[in-house]
Amino acid sequence: MSFHPVDQAPARLNRSELAVPGSQPQMFEKAAESDVDVIFLDLEDAVAPDEKPQARKNIIKALNEIDWGNKSMSIRINGLDTHYMYRDVVDIVEQAGERLDLIMIPKVGTAADVYAIDMMVTQIEDAMGWRKRIGFEHIIETALGMQNVHEIAAASKRNESLHFGVADYAASTRARTTVIGGVNENYSVLTDPDGSGNRETHWGDMWHYAISRMVVAARANGLRPIDGPFGDFSDPEGYKAAAYRAAVIGCEGKWAIHPSQIALANEVMSPSEEEVTRAQRILKAMAEAEAAGKGAVSLDGRLIDYASIRQAEVLVEKAKQIAG
Ligand code: GLV
Ligand code: MG
Repeated sequence: MSFHPVDQAPARLNRSELAVPGSQPQMFEKAAESDVDVIFLDLEDAVAPDEKPQARKNIIKALNEIDWGNKSMSIRINGLDTHYMYRDVVDIVEQAGERLDLIMIPKVGTAADVYAIDMMVTQIEDAMGWRKRIGFEHIIETALGMQNVHEIAAASKRNESLHFGVADYAASTRARTTVIGGVNENYSVLTDPDGSGNRETHWGDMWHYAISRMVVAARANGLRPIDGPFGDFSDPEGYKAAAYRAAVIGCEGKWAIHPSQIALANEVMSPSEEEVTRAQRILKAMAEAEAAGKGAVSLDGRLIDYASIRQAEVLVEKAKQIAG
């Protein structure tokens, strides 16, 4: 390990994260009763400019009055380039800061953006006497944010997670997309599997670099990398393919923009029973190996060593967190 310690963000379950517009209070109760891990009540892109003041009021009332159980509660504030942002932070942290766990900052571009909100939130928490510290979730969804993702990830002790906002990211980078979070079949290579000259199209994953870059920045700073929205909620298979793609390279959660996507995210982002059993067997085999003075042994015909212990521990920890 490096001599540089990486502090981990608070262990918070974040397999699924439901977006709920602050202007639609009739959706709040159903969200509170769902199986989602994190809910963000939105003040940004799902809320029209004229509705923003009322949406703030709805959110304050809902945070104070609805029983959200053990869900983590977040608000997505407006961007730092709008005049809505300061009221979002001041009104909601002052009037509902006790039940608020997280603030989601959209279109974050630089570490100074994070610093500015940190300063505001710190002043309000101190003035109100709130003892709990609100954490930050950052949506990486602009070319600027992706360029500065490493500095953003290290910019505040409040940082908990980085989220890939594929819709705005596509707009910012002028990528050609079809459905939000889906792939474009023109991002492909031609293959010739049997050498006959009859070429086939093999679709590539146009989001691979962006998500990987974000995952590295998040993990290097002890944060959770979370994949963002998948727009076509009538396509559960497409959603699951996107979620698995993100999970395989290290994301630990995905947004749900529709309640039907919650179960899909929870399923993909939870280790399966088979994986947990195998992880437990690895830990047992390594404990026995160590007791016998060995550093590496074979299990089911495959090599396992001390790195296997760390991988297995991550899985077993996650399973405990879900169970408990
Ligand atoms: C989320 O905010 C996105 O733009 O995808
Ligand atoms: Mg966005």
